[in-house]
Amino acid sequence: MGLPPKFKSLDRIPALMGGPVSPTRVDLGGNLFFNQDCIAGAREHLGDDSVDLIITDPPYGIQGHIMHRHYNRDERFVADGYVEVDGAHYNEFSHRWISEAYRILKPGGSIYVVSGYTNLYHILDALHGAGLLEVNHIIWRYRFGVYTKKKYISSHYHILFYEKPGKRRHTFNVTSRFGLSEKDPSGGSLNYQDREDVWDMNREYKRKRAKNKNELPLELLVKMIQYSSDPGNTVCDLFMGGFSTAKAAIGLDRRFVGFEISKEIFSTRLKDLEGLRPGYLQDGLRTPMHVQIRNQGKSWTEDELGRMRQRFLELKANRVKKYKIIPALCEEFGRGRWSIEKALKKNGLGMREPK
Ligand SMILES: C[S@@+](CC[C@H](N)C(=O)[O-])C[C@H]1O[C@@H](n2cnc3c(N)ncnc32)[C@H](O)[C@@H]1O
Repeated sequence: MGLPPKFKSLDRIPALMGGPVSPTRVDLGGNLFFNQDCIAGAREHLGDDSVDLIITDPPYGIQGHIMHRHYNRDERFVADGYVEVDGAHYNEFSHRWISEAYRILKPGGSIYVVSGYTNLYHILDALHGAGLLEVNHIIWRYRFGVYTKKKYISSHYHILFYEKPGKRRHTFNVTSRFGLSEKDPSGGSLNYQDREDVWDMNREYKRKRAKNKNELPLELLVKMIQYSSDPGNTVCDLFMGGFSTAKAAIGLDRRFVGFEISKEIFSTRLKDLEGLRPGYLQDGLRTPMHVQIRNQGKSWTEDELGRMRQRFLELKANRVKKYKIIPALCEEFGRGRWSIEKALKKNGLGMREPK
């Protein structure tokens, strides 16, 4: 595979001039990995308006490199070399990388930034300062918070979902995971639940396997990629860490480009990607069910209207909520919402909530 259009020529990467970071470029099947500071690296290798989606998890400026002292975990399996940012420079650092992110995003492209609470205000300041527009402020709830006695236990991260303004609005594949009329056993909409802005997900438990500090769960990344990009799109992670965004993007048949400043992390974690088959996650995805509007355009027969009226009264008598009745009727009678509502009105059946 060649380089995506608008990627700058990669032929003129300067030779290593010394210092701890080597600007290494690795191309695995057209997916590009740079062992480099993302700000300098993006300037050097990525053109304006060149990526569709950025998913990234910058260092938190809270001494992430010594985080094991706070978390009760076996450090032998956590990759060394995590590069932290000095909290005193967090604002400037955020402005610098987020203005690069803005430049490389296509108009209408999306960015998800994972952030803790401590330096959240700097990230928000930089996102707004760069001209990105808020789509959602997502709360990711987890269950690995640090135990405290004198205050509540912190058990969430912030995920800031923003878009770069443009003529085209951001991609949002609303039914990529659940059809609009799919229900849980108690009749609740699965699509609605999946799109609520509080996500309850745990980290993967990788006992005795190498991991990065703060490694994001695959499930979380897959969700963002499914909703906010299409196969063939280019996904970028400016702070790769354990290469988790890369694994999810390649697994979903997206192109990938990313940066990681730490030589140690880069060389250890890159190995996980060797032999990864593009699209390897596709088979494991659930197929959303879409209601077939099989009777679209057909006029209602008297018999059908009678049956629909009867079903409506039954559901109402069973105290089924109004917002569940219409989708249920759509499915049973193979008609769209509008057609059902019109037919109900014609039958003199109001849609007031059952008392
Ligand atoms: C919070 S971790 C990312 C974790 C990652 N999302 C994962 O799931 O494994 C942040 C990473 O950014 C790297 N980093 C710090 N400063 C950087 C910079 N200027 N450019 C690129 N990477 C950087 C750190 O070494 C660390 O691996």
